[in-house]
Parts: sequence; C-alpha cells; structure tokens
Amino acid sequence: MVTTPLIDATGRVAFVTGATGGIGQACVKMLLDAGAHVVATGRRSVPFDDPRVLKLALEVTDEAQVADAMAQTKAKFGAIDFLIHMAGMVGKGRLDQLDLKDWHTVVDTNLTSAFLVLKHAYPLLRKPGASVVLCGSSNGANGGSYLSGPAYASSKSALVNLTRYCAKEWAPDGVRVNIISPGPVDTPMLDRLSNDQHEGLKSALPLGRYATAEECAAGTLFLCSAHAASMTGTNMNVSSGLVHDR
Ligand SMILES: NC(=O)c1ccc[n+]([C@@H]2O[C@H](COP(=O)([O-])OP(=O)(O)OC[C@H]3O[C@@H](n4cnc5c(N)ncnc54)[C@H](OP(=O)(O)O)[C@@H]3O)[C@@H](O)[C@H]2O)c1
Repeated sequence: MVTTPLIDATGRVAFVTGATGGIGQACVKMLLDAGAHVVATGRRSVPFDDPRVLKLALEVTDEAQVADAMAQTKAKFGAIDFLIHMAGMVGKGRLDQLDLKDWHTVVDTNLTSAFLVLKHAYPLLRKPGASVVLCGSSNGANGGSYLSGPAYASSKSALVNLTRYCAKEWAPDGVRVNIISPGPVDTPMLDRLSNDQHEGLKSALPLGRYATAEECAAGTLFLCSAHAASMTGTNMNVSSGLVHDR
C-alpha cells in the first residue's frame, strides 16, 4: 500500500467527485495526508469527518447541481488547485440488448459529467499550477467487453480525447489536464462479478493482480504534483499490463 505523500498540498484545494467510491475515497485520504483542503462529493453520504473537508451531495449529470457545487466551493475556498473527477459507472451486456436509455445513462455519467465539471470548474481553476485528472479505463483502449458494455468502453475512450482537447486549450493558462486509465481495480465496482469472472479477468492480467484504489490515487496525486509539471494530455496506464501503449 502506498502511504508516502507524493506532494506537499498544504494550503491547496482539491475538488473530488466519486468521493464515496473506492478510488475517490483513496484520493481524498491521500490529499488530506498531503495537507490539502478537499471538496468531497458523491450522491451517497461522504464518509470523511475532517474540518478540512467540505462534503457536498452531487449528482454529476445535473448541470445545476454541478454549478451550485462550484459556487459553494468558491464561497468556502475561493479557488480550486486540483480537479479530480472519479465519478463513473459501468454498463453491462451486449450492444444488441442495450436500451437507448441505459446507453445515455452511462455516457452521461462518465462523459457528459466530465464536460460539466470541467466547464463549471474552469473559472476557479484558471491559474498557473492548477491540475485536472479525469478517470478513464483500460476498456477505453481495448474495447472492453459485455462485462461493462459498449457505452462504458465508448465513454471512457472519449474521455481520453476530451483530456487532450482541454490540455491544449488550457495550457496557455498554466492548467494541466491528464487522465488515469486503470485496468481492474479492487473496489466496489467489481462486486458485480462472479468468482469465475474474477478468475478470468485476473488470468488476463500479465501482472496477475488487480490494481488497488491507493495505487490509482497515487498516480492521480503524482499527475497533480510538481513532479508532473511537464505532463499534460497524458493518459496514465494503470492496467497491470493488460493494455500496451503504442
Ligand atoms: N474499479 C475498477 O475496476 C475500475 C477500472 C477502471 C476504471 N474505473 C473507474 O474509476 C472510477 C472510480 O470507480 P471506483 O472503482 O472507485 O468505483 P465505485 O467504488 O463504484 O465508485 C464509483 C463512484 O462514482 C460515483 N457516481 C456514480 N454515478 C454518479 C452520479 N451520477 N453522480 C455522482 N456520483 C456518481 C459514486 O457515487 P455514489 O456511490 O455516491 O452514487 C461513487 O463515488 C470510475 O470512473 C470508474 O469507471 C474503475
């Protein structure tokens, strides 16, 4: 387990979506260890009990709620140094069996939400040294499978190009934009899989192990840190060897 703070984030402000989930919670813990103030958001109750945490209920597909969360962040902290968008959901099943409504739910949750948080965070982020990390998936590189469905693979792939787009557009402001793309990670998102599916998935991983939420958080904090000051538009591959970058 990674425990050493990768950055000194004292006095910095992070806005985290998906802070009720496995990877988002690990990000919040690591940010607090590094000295940051954190706006921690989720639909369920956010578990942190720390005076440096502003807990907000947030449905990331709802533009009015996203705008309001940013307004509350501005009122409390004035600005955002790190925008970490971890909220996401899987779909399931073959393409020919997928309803349009379910397609939209997955695409809205994974992709449209990123547009909304980026758009409404921009006025608070727009300063040299600010950093954004979105969350992709190995499914966005290798096409995924019926286990997560076509809307998941497609939306995660699109996030990579949204990252590249914003990286270029926001570079003159000094704002860096990167994405982390995990393979299977040991979080509640994988609870839906049967034992056989777990075994099949692990056997496809050259390293033979799932990543941990803490490893994903460490990659995220690295991308936010000064060590990554020359990195923008990067897709960080945390797939246990499943995906080979070309
Ligand atoms: N676990 C994996 O194997 C894996 C692999 C590759 C990529 N990822 C990506 O990693 C990110 C984090 O996933 P995780 O593994 O930590 O899964 P998780 O434990 O299931 O957490 C998912 C998080 O997304 C939030 N969320 C989902 N829909 C939302 C909505 N409409 N509005 C607001 N929040 C919403 C959930 O909030 P509530 O529970 O409060 O609703 C929860 O905090 C996701 O983007 C996921 O696609 C995960």
